[in-house]
Amino acid sequence: MSTELITARKLMRTYVSEAERVDAVDEVDMAAGGSEFIGLFGHSGSGKTTLLNLIAGLDTPTGGELWVNGLDLLAASEDERVRLRRETIGMVHQTDHLIEEFTAAENVALPLEARGVSAREALVEASELLERVGLGGHEARFPRQLSGGQRQRVGIARALTGGRRVLLADEPTGSLDSANASAIFGLLRELCDDGRLVLVASHDPACRQFATRTVDMLDGRVVSDEPTC
Ligand SMILES: Nc1ncnc2c1ncn2[C@@H]1O[C@H](COP(=O)(O)OP(=O)(O)OP(=O)(O)O)[C@@H](O)[C@H]1O
Ligand SMILES: [Mg+2]
Repeated sequence: MSTELITARKLMRTYVSEAERVDAVDEVDMAAGGSEFIGLFGHSGSGKTTLLNLIAGLDTPTGGELWVNGLDLLAASEDERVRLRRETIGMVHQTDHLIEEFTAAENVALPLEARGVSAREALVEASELLERVGLGGHEARFPRQLSGGQRQRVGIARALTGGRRVLLADEPTGSLDSANASAIFGLLRELCDDGRLVLVASHDPACRQFATRTVDMLDGRVVSDEPTC
């Protein structure tokens, strides 16, 4: 059996309106597994966010094949997509969407409690994850008491709850200065080296230094897919 977490074959996402037809993702082939950090690059509008949303089951392919952790995303039900995001795929965005009234630990614990884990157990896992992302000792801080880079780390910890093995990040350092951006890429690399699959859409060239593999997109197509030295 394949150990691949993501398999795309001739994957398509076409938007059709009266005025135009846009192949936002156009015949993309990709296979990826654990311990890979894929940096996804390309000009604005090249299809990076569309591809991440397809993989997360937030959007539906219009053609080809897409399998994520064994789930066929052209055929999956809404319940199966929700389960995929709950159990397998964590997402990180440019802005962290933390809840300001909750502490760092409570923010991380929230998705666990939402799936029925007891408050105590959820806080234990949250503390472990905060430690893992370099925020040991910051559990009781509120988001306003954290720096931008620290807030983003809380968002990453939250995305990893429940042992999720795939982390999708869309411009995770878009709001950070270069030192903080490199630190976040360094953390994402560590999380990859722990065995996870990390897929990061970025305009930041620094991302290339941390990725194990870089994929460049142009007009919805993958134009290069290379291991990084
Ligand atoms: N809901 C939509 N309806 C129609 N076209 C869309 C929709 N969403 C995205 N597109 C188009 O799909 C293409 C890919 O967009 P996408 O957001 O994936 O690009 P991107 O690489 O993430 O860009 P950026 O670097 O600016 O974030 C663009 O041409 C965009 O205009
Ligand atoms: Mg985008």
